[in-house]
Amino acid sequence: MKAVYYEKYGSLSVLKHGEINDPKEVLDNEVLIKVNSFSLNPLDYKLRNGMLKLITFRTFPRTTGSDFSGEVITIGGSVKNFKIGDKVFGFLSQLTSGTSSEFIKVNQSILSKIPSNIDISESASVPLAALTSYQALAQLAKITKGNKVLINGASGGTGIFAVQISKLFDADVTSITSHRNIEWMRNTFLVDNAVDYTHENFLDNLKKNEFDVIYDCYGNLSFNKIKDLLKPNGKFITTDPFKIESIVGRIVSLFSKRKFLSVVVNSNGNDLNIIKKWIEEKKIKIFIDKIFNFSQTHDAYKYIETQRAKGKIIVRVDV
Ligand SMILES: NC(=O)c1ccc[n+]([C@@H]2O[C@H](COP(=O)([O-])OP(=O)(O)OC[C@H]3O[C@@H](n4cnc5c(N)ncnc54)[C@H](OP(=O)(O)O)[C@@H]3O)[C@@H](O)[C@H]2O)c1
Repeated sequence: MKAVYYEKYGSLSVLKHGEINDPKEVLDNEVLIKVNSFSLNPLDYKLRNGMLKLITFRTFPRTTGSDFSGEVITIGGSVKNFKIGDKVFGFLSQLTSGTSSEFIKVNQSILSKIPSNIDISESASVPLAALTSYQALAQLAKITKGNKVLINGASGGTGIFAVQISKLFDADVTSITSHRNIEWMRNTFLVDNAVDYTHENFLDNLKKNEFDVIYDCYGNLSFNKIKDLLKPNGKFITTDPFKIESIVGRIVSLFSKRKFLSVVVNSNGNDLNIIKKWIEEKKIKIFIDKIFNFSQTHDAYKYIETQRAKGKIIVRVDV
């Protein structure tokens, strides 16, 4: 089958187009999917760079990409909720391999049918980023109506879902983005306050003891520096649990009522069903920055690695 893959860790140049073996036969609880599209996440280039090689080992060739959408073409004996022909979406943990190939084999438990009101290709933009922000805000922080939520990196893949999920819970949202995205935050997402991180000392204008939740989707805030903006029982959540500041933050929070939390997204079909329903109810919208063809996968990764994406980036495999 055709695939984009790499045979050693490294920069963008290690990504190759070519043929790799088809997936082996499906197990009882698995389905075989003909991939329509995959979407990009920073995890893809972090893995490809070898940042997590202690857990991904040296198993090559590896395809890239976590998110996927596609059509079910074979089902295992105990698969009950999906049938051949269903259009599905989800994300793979990429511990062994990714989704940048014609066919993938996945466990039924991570799947959901695509939302009925969006295109199959657009659906690929949803799972990993939406589940991260859902699990961070709804499950870890347990946000409720009227909570004040500060979101850093609000214009990125995870951020756009974070803002919308917070609004869906009737939270009061302050976004942090560069000046490029301030008006987009105000006009499209109706944030209550939009902060520009390119201003020197941009946090100084925010009040102390103000926020119930600070969600750092970009991953560059330090708990130690920002904790005074939290209410006394407030929660700080980062998407980067492994950096030094996070380890320090975790220790500092042991001596504080203000809590340090980190999210590690869990691929879960039940949670994805909730997101699917919100999309169908038009409570959450999809924001696609760019769509690339399979042959342009390098360009797609070059773009996401600028860290300037405004929403999600999709690669169409099935063209
Ligand atoms: N732990 C987990 O399970 C998990 C899950 C998902 C993601 N993550 C991590 O979360 C991070 C963000 O992921 P993503 O998918 O949202 O990335 P992304 O889509 O690539 O983020 C791009 C956005 O980052 C913003 N940005 C760039 N520099 C910034 C800065 N200094 N301060 C604030 N925002 C800045 C950009 O906005 P401007 O153009 O306005 O600067 C752009 O809109 C990545 O490190 C990713 O690996 C972790």
